[in-house]
Amino acid sequence: MRRGSILALLGIGLVAGGVAAAVALVPTWLPEPASREAGRIQFVFWFTIVICIVIFSLVAAVMIYAVLKFRVRPDDHEDGPPIHGHTGLEITWTVIPFVLVTSIAIVSAIVLSRNDAQAQDTLRVNVTAQQFLWTFSYPDAKNVTSPVLRLPKDRSVELYIRSEDVIHSFWVPQFSQKEDTVPGLVTQLHITPDRLGTFPVVCTELCGLGHALMRSQAIVMTPAAFEQWLHQQEKGATAGSTTTTGSSTHPTGLAVFKANSCATCHTLSAASATGTVGPDLDKLVSYAQQAHQPLEAFAHQSVVDPNAYIQPGYPKNLMPPTFGQTLSKAELSALVTFLVQSSKQSKKG
Ligand code: CUA
Repeated sequence: MRRGSILALLGIGLVAGGVAAAVALVPTWLPEPASREAGRIQFVFWFTIVICIVIFSLVAAVMIYAVLKFRVRPDDHEDGPPIHGHTGLEITWTVIPFVLVTSIAIVSAIVLSRNDAQAQDTLRVNVTAQQFLWTFSYPDAKNVTSPVLRLPKDRSVELYIRSEDVIHSFWVPQFSQKEDTVPGLVTQLHITPDRLGTFPVVCTELCGLGHALMRSQAIVMTPAAFEQWLHQQEKGATAGSTTTTGSSTHPTGLAVFKANSCATCHTLSAASATGTVGPDLDKLVSYAQQAHQPLEAFAHQSVVDPNAYIQPGYPKNLMPPTFGQTLSKAELSALVTFLVQSSKQSKKG
């Protein structure tokens, strides 16, 4: 092979590799990892990408060179010499992909087993998915319940994920892993958060009308701040309330409404909520009249026993029947008062 040809091949390969590398590196394809597991998964990703770029450069160089160098000339009407295979070349192009694919498989297997490996002092968190909200509880801390997932940094966490109704899927992009929630099964996910911050919890399985809004937050805190938060919540739990609105002892109805994702399904002007899955709460006054009940009693019943009265035009069994149990007495009464007052003020009533 002439020196000129080798230089041409090398040049084309470098340009192709440069273009491919720019496509891989310049746009931000992946979120910045926030857990050790996510870091390992991204290592597998980049390991594979580097192999892909090398193979791409090689193939592009040979192909572009061949197209330019060996194309048919206008006056050339002859066939080329017959070729009967090339054993050495065939072995080469079989062995190289075999080694590369096997190495990807081995690296993936190592990462999978390390990601699932149980560490010591694992924090257990129960995750419950239902249409269309997430609930997180801490069984080792008097089952403290929270609508957002709070986690300590650098501690191994095992999520035990259940569904109350249909298949959902738990996903925090910065943690990389996804896990389905399957009715009747408890699925598990192991996470070791290693970056402080607030990240979205996303439902990533189409689960009904409110799917796109079925979101919460994962807040990674310093271990000290986490312990303090958990301790405060435990005190609340002992006092007969599983506080879901943070540390506030006198919750406002608006805060309860927001903390429990009511806006996912309901419209309520006073809370700037525009959900359309469930009844329009601006019309609560007229709903109560249709149900032949006093407004306040109707609002209370609709929260603690949503199936007692179903507003015509809306589906039954969609509002979580256990929803009322996740609220403390103070939160429940604040929420009911808030609903009553805002629906009275509403023009639609
Ligand atoms: Cu739950 Cu999508």
